[in-house]
Amino acid sequence: MATVYAVGVGPGDPELLTRKAERILRSAEVILAPVSNPAEASVALEIIRDFIDESRQEIIVHQFPMTADRSRLIPAWQAAADLIASHAEAGRSVAFITIGDPLFYSTFIYLLRILREQYPQLPIEIIPGISSINAAASLASLPLVEGDEKMIVIPATAGIEQIKNALDTCETVVLLKVKPIFSAIVELLRITGREHTAVFVERVGGPRQLVLTDFSQIAAHTPDYLSLMIIK
Ligand SMILES: C[S@@+](CC[C@H](N)C(=O)[O-])C[C@H]1O[C@@H](n2cnc3c(N)ncnc32)[C@H](O)[C@@H]1O
Repeated sequence: MATVYAVGVGPGDPELLTRKAERILRSAEVILAPVSNPAEASVALEIIRDFIDESRQEIIVHQFPMTADRSRLIPAWQAAADLIASHAEAGRSVAFITIGDPLFYSTFIYLLRILREQYPQLPIEIIPGISSINAAASLASLPLVEGDEKMIVIPATAGIEQIKNALDTCETVVLLKVKPIFSAIVELLRITGREHTAVFVERVGGPRQLVLTDFSQIAAHTPDYLSLMIIK
């Protein structure tokens, strides 16, 4: 029985992987990379390209549809868990790679649940990664919280009301997955007079990373999926 690793590969810059993540990725016999659209490259796999050797390691790209529809997600999670378990049971070490950190809004959380329930004998080791939030704050030179301040992280898909309440109760509000309701967020910032408190960060760590602090530029921007906002 070989070990299953969940490896956080950080936000995009290969230099933001831990030494442990790099060591495991160089030695794993199988690397499983998630992708939401099979026509596009796996973001996590692109980050670790320099650390892997396709002549020696098996690279599997597995699709997890970008949907909230559990009837489509559950079979994808189950198939990935079965695949991981079959390799590990055959004695091949498997590394499931995930952007940022594996236990922070990651597909790996669902896989972990299935593996623990259905394959309790499998050894699982989780290697933390630098999350997009920490990388974004560093890029923007923006302290996240200090002293007694509180920070809340909200996937913006939770809805504008949740964001509104959070702005009233926490000194720092971090919004992930801003793309689907970006215009509503911009409007909320405008009507609550918080135009100058928001920082927008897109694709931090990658070649196309972008930081916007000017509200008119934020409002005019069309974000992609890998973008977040920090509101202080
Ligand atoms: C499913 S969550 C994954 C979070 C990830 N596990 C982490 O630790 O950062 C996806 C959301 O994280 C944020 N995100 C992930 N990578 C990012 C990046 N490189 N730049 C900006 N935001 C990013 C975006 O808000 C995106 O919609």
